[in-house]
Amino acid sequence: MTKIIIFISGRGSNMEAILKETKNGILKGIAETVLVFSDKEDAKGLQTAKDFGIKTTSITAKGKNRNVFDNELIELLSHYKFDFIILAGYMRILSEIFVRTYKNKIINIHPADTNLHQGLHAYEWAFENKMQATKITVHFVNEGVDTGKIIAQQEVDLRGAETLEEVEKRGLAVEHKFYSEVLSEVFGVRS
Ligand code: GRF
Repeated sequence: MTKIIIFISGRGSNMEAILKETKNGILKGIAETVLVFSDKEDAKGLQTAKDFGIKTTSITAKGKNRNVFDNELIELLSHYKFDFIILAGYMRILSEIFVRTYKNKIINIHPADTNLHQGLHAYEWAFENKMQATKITVHFVNEGVDTGKIIAQQEVDLRGAETLEEVEKRGLAVEHKFYSEVLSEVFGVRS
């Protein structure tokens, strides 16, 4: 069983999808979530995780620079046994020291083709450029922002999507299914 820690910052809909798939779907018997961590104490997703019976914790970032925060986080994580850190809407950029500590163990989902777009507002970018399709990317995290090795991508059909809400809705529907599918393959290879 692959042990994972999921990082969130807000809504946590991707986390929720993973928890559902772990309970009753494609990740059942493959992955176990040992902790949900948030850098925001009031992240909505923390309650969702608790409702699934998953342990949650957060560290406030207030008044701390990136290295101080990440060193605290590394200390916290040292008390857990886990195989992968799964970023699911985690909005904080990770420090080099953090990425090096967990080299090849951090996976992220980005709602665009990371070859074409990195960072925030990926759905806005697709919408504003009137793109007919965009790609969801699952990738390993390196020291850059959305520049790590791509594991898999899935296209989202945006034809006829006339509002940003519609673009997001179609994209998230793909994200929620795709992330767990890709993770099941990554974890399957391990076992
Ligand atoms: C998702 O679009 C994810 O790809 C991006 O941030 C959003 C987080 O949404 N990194 P949620 O918190 O999973 O609902």
